[in-house]
Parts: sequence; C-alpha cells; structure tokens
Amino acid sequence: MAHPILRPRRLREKSLLRKLVRETRLSVDDLIYPMFAVHGRGVREAIPSMPGQARLSVDELVREAKDVAGMGIPGVILFGLPREKDPRGSEAYAEDGIVQQAVRAVKDVVPDLLVITDVCLCQYTSHGHCGVVEGGTVRNDATLELLSRVALSHVEAGADMVAPSDMMDGRVAAMREALDESGYTESPIMAYSAKYASSFYGPFRDAADSTPQFGDRRSYQMDPANGTEAMREIALDLDEGADIVMVKPALPYLDIISRAKSEFGVPLAAYSVSGEYAMIRAAGRLGWLDEERAMLEALTAIRRAGADIVITYFARDAARVLERGGLTG
Ligand code: PBG
Repeated sequence: MAHPILRPRRLREKSLLRKLVRETRLSVDDLIYPMFAVHGRGVREAIPSMPGQARLSVDELVREAKDVAGMGIPGVILFGLPREKDPRGSEAYAEDGIVQQAVRAVKDVVPDLLVITDVCLCQYTSHGHCGVVEGGTVRNDATLELLSRVALSHVEAGADMVAPSDMMDGRVAAMREALDESGYTESPIMAYSAKYASSFYGPFRDAADSTPQFGDRRSYQMDPANGTEAMREIALDLDEGADIVMVKPALPYLDIISRAKSEFGVPLAAYSVSGEYAMIRAAGRLGWLDEERAMLEALTAIRRAGADIVITYFARDAARVLERGGLTG
C-alpha cells in the first residue's frame, strides 16, 4: 500500500494531541510515601542502598511528614526500627514502640496526612523472621495473635489504616476480629495479599535491619513463578475482610497487578519496592539512563497495569515533577 489510510502517528505528532488521547494519568493523589522511624532525637541516618532515603527519629520524621503533606501526597506508610530485638518482637506491639510514637506524633502535628502502618514482626524479632519461630520454623497460628496485637496497638495510637505484610494465613481475619472487638470497626485493612519472596527487597532489609538470621522467607512469601496463586491469596484476603489488596513488588509483577484489577475490581495497591527504586537511582547516578523519565515511566506503567495506589520511595520526587506539570510532551 503506497499510502496507508490508518496512521496512528497522526495523534503522536503534537504534544497537546498526545495529552488529549493519553489513557493513563499519574497524579500525586495516587502516591504513598514509605518512611522509617528510629529512636532518638535529631537522627537522620542516610540509607546507603536507597540514596535520598533516611531513617528518621520521630522529631525529624514529623518535619518530613509535614513536607510530604504540603506536596499534596495523601499518605505515608511507616516502618520502625526497635531499640532492641527479641524472639517475639515485643516492641512491635508495645504502647510506646517506635511506630506507635511516630503515629501519635504525626497525627498530632499533621492530622490531614493519612498514616498507614506496616504490620509485621521481622524488624523486631532477633531472628529476623515475620513470625514466631519454634523448632526452626515460622509458626503460623502462634503468630496471628501477635500480629493482631501489633495492628490494634497501631490503631490505638491513631493509625488511619493498617497494612499486614507478614503473609501468614488467616492474618486479615484475625486482625479484623481484634480491631472489631475493640470497637475499631471503621479502621480499614490494606493487605499485602500477593507478596512475593523477592530479591528486590534487598535495600529495604538494609534500611530496616530485617534480614532473616537463618533461612529465607520462602516458607511464607510467594513463589515468583506463580500467578494463579496470587489470585487465590487476594480472594482469601477479601473474604477475610481486606479493604484494599496489594501486589508487591510492582514492576516485575505488572501481569499480576493487571490480573488482580480485572478479576476482582477492588481497590488495588502496588508496592514499588526498595530494589526497584535502587535500580533506577543507581543507573541514573551512573548516567546510564535519565532518572526522572525512568521514574515517571515506571510509575505510570504501574498505574496503567491497574494499580489505584502506588507505594513508592519516589513519591516526593514524582510529586515535584508532577507539580511543574510533568515532563514536557
Ligand atoms: C516487612 C516488609 C518488607 C518490605 C515491606 N514490608 C521486607 C520483607 O518482606 O523482607 C519490603 C519493602 C521494600 O523492599 O521496599 N515484612
């Protein structure tokens, strides 16, 4: 054919036309920013494998949370590093634990920022696993009681939403029951439903000092080769009362995000994890790619796949670019 009639390029020539037919929009409204709380005052410890991220004492964290809210980012998800670790991770559910302190302080000073908390034991246990260890294995049912206590203590401190990331069976139901029994029927649960045993958590484990001291997490986190099983995990969490479900990591699992959105049609979050952040940052620093464009492309792809909410360490960088109208074109 000498002259094609159908020419998709017609709509690509001009920036304004491209904008008009763009199918996916990334907005600051979609983003959640993860933060790490540590004990002390005036502490700001850079995390080497996550350039631009730091562990913050509560006073510093509140300052930064104010900044985050000022940028229009709707929420943060908090992680904590305890003063001491023990086999049952007791600071995770202590009334004056680091996350509980951080939640109270942020809600006090920045009440309009949504404060979500990660509910898990691995940062708090001496063995680094996400549950109670007995006889060398992670015990599911014994862990549920502790996780419920963690969730309840976060909500009591004022958390707007709890996000269990442990991957124990039945944790959403256990937490829902614990919250309801204490009158917190209106507190939502965002479940890390399809959480894979991923090497992309490496930098986070440096940041949160949560590397397992023996073995790995493959007896509870999902096999990266499985997709149908992710749908089953999501279905179970929804049955147990999850309000928002999550796929994690995001970029290597866009197919899972897409399936989850089309099969369930419920509010869906995707966690673009530490390793995804580190890859783009590192390549950007080496001058191997344009960091800003790669960041926006990755975040847009996660939205295009079907995520409503994107949890990302790039939230502040992305908010800055979006504020000035996004990248040209
Ligand atoms: C805790 C938890 C992890 C992450 C979020 N919650 C680590 C893990 O499961 O080992 C990873 C987040 C990231 O890599 O950014 N269970």
